[in-house]
Amino acid sequence: MDTYRLKHIMVVDDDPSHQSMVLSALGRMGYECEVASNAFEALEKLSEDSFDLVISDIVMPEKDGIELMKEARALLPDLDFIIMTGHSGDYSYSDIVAAGARDYLMKPFTKAELKARLERIERERGNELELRKHRDHLEKLVTKRTAELDSANKRLRQVQKLEAIGTLAKGIAHEFNNILTPIMAFSEIMLEQAAEDDSFREELQIIVDSACRARDLVSQIMTFARTEGAERQIIRMGPFLKEIMKQARSSIPATIKVDVNILTKKDVVMADPVQIQQVVMNICTNSAQAMQEGGGALEVRLQDAVIMPESMEIRALGVKPGPYLKLTVSDTGHGMDQTIVDRIFDPFFTTRQPGEGSGLGLSVVYGIVADYGGTITVETAPGRGTTFCVFLPGAEHELAEEPFTVSSSSGTGKCILVVDDDKLVLLAAVGILESLGYRVVAITSSLEALELFRATPDELSLVITDLTMPHMTGLELAEELHKIRPGTPIILCTGYGGMTNRGDAAATGIVETVRKPFSRQTMAEAVQRVLRDGATPFIPLMRK
Ligand SMILES: Nc1ncnc2c1ncn2[C@@H]1O[C@H](COP(=O)(O)OP(=O)(O)OP(=O)(O)O)[C@@H](O)[C@H]1O
Ligand SMILES: [Mg+2]
Repeated sequence: MDTYRLKHIMVVDDDPSHQSMVLSALGRMGYECEVASNAFEALEKLSEDSFDLVISDIVMPEKDGIELMKEARALLPDLDFIIMTGHSGDYSYSDIVAAGARDYLMKPFTKAELKARLERIERERGNELELRKHRDHLEKLVTKRTAELDSANKRLRQVQKLEAIGTLAKGIAHEFNNILTPIMAFSEIMLEQAAEDDSFREELQIIVDSACRARDLVSQIMTFARTEGAERQIIRMGPFLKEIMKQARSSIPATIKVDVNILTKKDVVMADPVQIQQVVMNICTNSAQAMQEGGGALEVRLQDAVIMPESMEIRALGVKPGPYLKLTVSDTGHGMDQTIVDRIFDPFFTTRQPGEGSGLGLSVVYGIVADYGGTITVETAPGRGTTFCVFLPGAEHELAEEPFTVSSSSGTGKCILVVDDDKLVLLAAVGILESLGYRVVAITSSLEALELFRATPDELSLVITDLTMPHMTGLELAEELHKIRPGTPIILCTGYGGMTNRGDAAATGIVETVRKPFSRQTMAEAVQRVLRDGATPFIPLMRK
């Protein structure tokens, strides 16, 4: 603790001999002092100079020591007083203290008594200052903590907002996919059937393209809405990455040149497409933001990588040695210094203005990549751009390479039962399947479909069912159908909102899933694959 020393003291006394006695005692103790012979003089000096203490006689003509103290403290609340009092005064000791004096001295007093009083005041003042220091420090801490809590609350509200947007987006996407399915299917069918010189061909192509764009948009919206568990499936990263970047292009300023280089054919990973899209989009969005000012170049590259057992640098990040798919995103943006790099994967760390970024982008990326047993590295320097490398473990098994050819004769008259409570989606499926040469029985009620199947199980080569339907869901229907004829191939048709998990689907014998809105090509491939391979174990495939 720092010791406190009174620096400037004023002695107020109308008795010159007492005045000089006090003055000389103080002087010998080393204090700097001034004197006043009455309260008015004292008040004047107080207004001109600064004092730490006033030692005032109590009985003085016109204005006594207590009145002086009250007036002075009204102007200088921190000024301390010692009141010198005789035996026969108007005031008692308690009156003096109640009036605000720090202490009192009974006349006559010795130099030792005076010294003891002054030392006590200095000790008390020292303690008070120390306390004030602690209090100020505490106040600062409370202010800082309050600000932190405020910003945590803001972040929480932001996360809740994102969740709400996600739920809304999920609902919209589900509905939209149902609406888009007939638009996409019928325009494709009409295009397929239109003669080469038909004047409507161009318009039909515009409808098909617009529907595809709408489908892509819905899938983009769905990146927010990933509220369900990850749905891993085999993904061919090359084409998928190109597709993601095609969608991303519209949100990247034209001043940024975008290059996508697929440098490997071994591009198969087992992952949730929505999560992969999030990984790519979050990293690319950051890159685009880093080049917003002056433009630049964004390169997205896909290549093989093998993490060797001795590659300590990457292994230190906790990944197993083995084959990986390496996704590199390089930008020529403003880069980062080490203090930022150290925190970029922290949830809610952001250098953006309030409202411009939640600081969740890279933490989500990190979480997803780590979940897949992969890792992510970053190389950057201020003004030198940034390169992120994402390592994803390669899938053990690859997709069958056999290409699918869709022709109107592929159906060979086989009969397919299609169940969907949305009439237009049902009509779209029927249109596509009939155009492929299949015979189709279409039913909007899952209960009726079950009855029909019970009556003629052997007539139907395949069942295609919607997932979300009243009374009996697609999964429940599949389960019932399998009780009647085990091994019946079933394709589950879902919008994003109703995605099921792998385990549920496998347990009911579903062999394939098709996402809405489906194109003629997607449906044809799924049906041909199932009818060719029969009821193989459930591996939902992502194909466009
Ligand atoms: N390519 C990059 N170039 C420069 N700085 C980057 C780059 N990528 C990330 N950063 C820095 O890392 C921070 C964290 O990124 P992150 O994506 O987690 O959050 P955000 O972009 O700030 O917000 P959000 O992604 O939630 O909108 C950014 O604020 C930015 O400072
Ligand atoms: Mg970001």
